[in-house]
Amino acid sequence: MEKIKLGLIGYGYWGPNFARVIGESSNSTLKYCADSDDRSLERAKKKYPTLITTKDYRDILSDGDVKAVIIVTPTKTHYQIAKECILAKKHVFIEKPLCQNVKEAQELILLAQDYKVKLMVGHVFLFNSAVKFIKDLIDRGHIGRLRHLHFQRRNLGPIRQDVNVLWDLAPHDISMALHFIGDKPFSVIASGESFLQKGILDVVSASLKFPHNVMVNMIFSWIDPVKVRDIAIVGENKMVLFDDVAQSERVKIFNKNANIIKNTLDVSFGEYQISLHSGDILVPAIENREPLKEEFNHFIDCVANNKKPFTDGQNGLDVVRIISAIQQSLDQNSTLVKL
Ligand SMILES: NC(=O)c1ccc[n+]([C@@H]2O[C@H](COP(=O)([O-])OP(=O)(O)OC[C@H]3O[C@@H](n4cnc5c(N)ncnc54)[C@H](O)[C@@H]3O)[C@@H](O)[C@H]2O)c1
Repeated sequence: MEKIKLGLIGYGYWGPNFARVIGESSNSTLKYCADSDDRSLERAKKKYPTLITTKDYRDILSDGDVKAVIIVTPTKTHYQIAKECILAKKHVFIEKPLCQNVKEAQELILLAQDYKVKLMVGHVFLFNSAVKFIKDLIDRGHIGRLRHLHFQRRNLGPIRQDVNVLWDLAPHDISMALHFIGDKPFSVIASGESFLQKGILDVVSASLKFPHNVMVNMIFSWIDPVKVRDIAIVGENKMVLFDDVAQSERVKIFNKNANIIKNTLDVSFGEYQISLHSGDILVPAIENREPLKEEFNHFIDCVANNKKPFTDGQNGLDVVRIISAIQQSLDQNSTLVKL
């Protein structure tokens, strides 16, 4: 099979990771790299001398040889670049978040349908083997009904100037929350503060309510002392911790729970008892595959075999809709926003 020719748009901090993964792929090849900054293009050319580099991504769009593009530019440019790529009939992989509002996301989805191209969003955690493992545990009923999920994403930098910490970091955790719960929130409430750049929030916390009594809390910060990326999932039967920066034992399953003793025959309301159960901790062996590679290979598979991307435009829109609601709560002094 002929290799699928690709164009990479954006070779800043994250773009080079895609160039590497494409270089390691057996069924695709990188023909172009576009970046508006000369220094980025020099870096790309030095590492990949046969690459065609250009300051204008439209040069890629006019080459009929190129089937798909990978967009890894700042969030505020996503909508415009993605739109032009779709209109040029290129399949599009775009980094998270898909774009900056619901209307633009809906437009991109419809355009991709009309032009019969794939639109995939970089919700990379859904390709993480630990996340897949946990999702499987939940779906097989091992945790019991979900009660509370707690996400922390804190570090010192990188600090962005085009979007606030919510738009930068929340796509990861919101995409995972939707995936784990298999449902969408009906309300959000949030609080945040900016300390460094006027109007750009550095710290945001958000609380999301889902149907069936499921509650999610999230905190995002890019001015924290140490890198923390952890998730606690509390179910009726068991609890799970996922520490994505741990060197080992990244997932732990706690045989712990808190429940009302159900056999209340012949006892009055005052005699109801709460049982706290604290059992073993299991550390499962989980194969460690590179999520970015899994994600990229999935995109190529969708393009080559006309499949629907797992993290398609609709998934991107779901995440953008929730972030927009959280942003609305922040803009309205932490009022509750219904979805
Ligand atoms: N999945 C992840 O874990 C992850 C990690 C980091 C970044 N990202 C995402 O990747 C994207 C880029 O982030 P980054 O950290 O690499 O940013 P960056 O600022 O380091 O790099 C962006 C690059 O895009 C170039 N650029 C800007 N406008 C352009 C345009 N109109 N045409 C061509 N090139 C243009 C810039 O010159 C720069 O080299 C963002 O959407 C971000 O959310 C994802």
